[in-house]
Amino acid sequence: MTESYIQNLFADRIGGNSYGKGTEIYKFEKIKRAKRAAMAANPSVEMIDMGVGEPDEMAFPESIEALHRASLKPDNRGYADNGSDAFKEAAVRWMKNVCGVDGLLPGKHICHSIGSKAALSILPNCFINPGDIALMTTPGYPVFGTHSKYIGGEVYNIPLLEKNAFLPDLTSIPADKLARAKTLVINYPNNPTGASATLAFFRDVVAFAKKHNLIVIHDAAYAALVFEGRPLSFLETPGAMDVGIELQSMSKTFNMTGWRLGFVAGNDLIVKAYADVKDNTDSGQYLAIQEACAHSLDHPEITQKIAAKYSRRMDGLVGILNKHGLRAQKPKGSFFLYVKIPTAATRNGQRATFDKAEQFSQWMITENLISTVPWDDAGAYVRFSVTFIAKGEDQEKRVLGEIDKRLASSKFEF
Ligand SMILES: Cc1ncc(COP(=O)(O)O)c(C=O)c1O
Repeated sequence: MTESYIQNLFADRIGGNSYGKGTEIYKFEKIKRAKRAAMAANPSVEMIDMGVGEPDEMAFPESIEALHRASLKPDNRGYADNGSDAFKEAAVRWMKNVCGVDGLLPGKHICHSIGSKAALSILPNCFINPGDIALMTTPGYPVFGTHSKYIGGEVYNIPLLEKNAFLPDLTSIPADKLARAKTLVINYPNNPTGASATLAFFRDVVAFAKKHNLIVIHDAAYAALVFEGRPLSFLETPGAMDVGIELQSMSKTFNMTGWRLGFVAGNDLIVKAYADVKDNTDSGQYLAIQEACAHSLDHPEITQKIAAKYSRRMDGLVGILNKHGLRAQKPKGSFFLYVKIPTAATRNGQRATFDKAEQFSQWMITENLISTVPWDDAGAYVRFSVTFIAKGEDQEKRVLGEIDKRLASSKFEF
């Protein structure tokens, strides 16, 4: 069959005329295939899915009711452009009441996003010229880097290592890369490591950004999910407003991944540039969603209940993994538990060895019907997400008991 002329029209950034012809199977597809095969081989055994990076529950009833009410208002029907004042004002109140960040002005320091992913795809257009470098951390959420590369930028990845508490060692960035760098993206609590930042680290970031003329983008998608105390915002760091912005998201904070809403907060010049490019990218999120989310932002107890659930599940899971010889440490927030892989495991007399997290993750799916996500970017780790499906505490205990039972027949070596 002759090839369509369309094949020759793809832009180089997505592979040019080789687009779609690659045979490499990507991580998430490998997980999907292994799960399918394990379920086919064990049709009566439940697959415990801890690979999913999103909440297992719906938004709270009061948020859904607020959406229903808001969607009945004719004024909410049209283009939202760069957002409603009500949502911006609620964002300011939330930043003050929940994060302790005072002094933000709704019309100057806040602009909504159709989720943080959308904001991360828009922001490179504000700063990255061909040849500029975007500093990213690895392992991590790559969207800002991907879009920087789409427009001719380069990415320099700073590894997140256990010995540094999974914080980037900024002094490790080579001088020639730093000279071309314009942006630094950080994310705490971090996906996938679950690590939290400290005020001291944020202070270092501000000083580093000022010294090297960098823009800091703190992706705070999990910031509100803390197990103790209150969320730590980058913007509460002295000087942070001079160098950067923070991306907050409703997705994990209020079980609203599908609703697609977040906000960008911080330095007014950066927010203005984001709003200008955003205005040429989308027409804003549905105003009824913004209204319902404004209502939710005024109810931070919703997030506290969600975080308490993850904390309880985390306690259970950490206890079970440690009991069976894996080495897990409860994070201070998020729903991710990042665990170093063993070098070998023996089950039913069969010994398997692992060089890479991907092998261990496949073994966990095949042998235990437990799904995790492997990360081999800076050491070999698997990420357990405590968003496994379980309605209520009894079901939660049942799932944890099942994990306990399955791992009891395995012996791990390090
Ligand atoms: C680190 C990180 N940033 C951003 C996002 C995207 O969030 P949103 O749903 O607000 O687009 C995710 C989602 O998984 C994430 O893990």
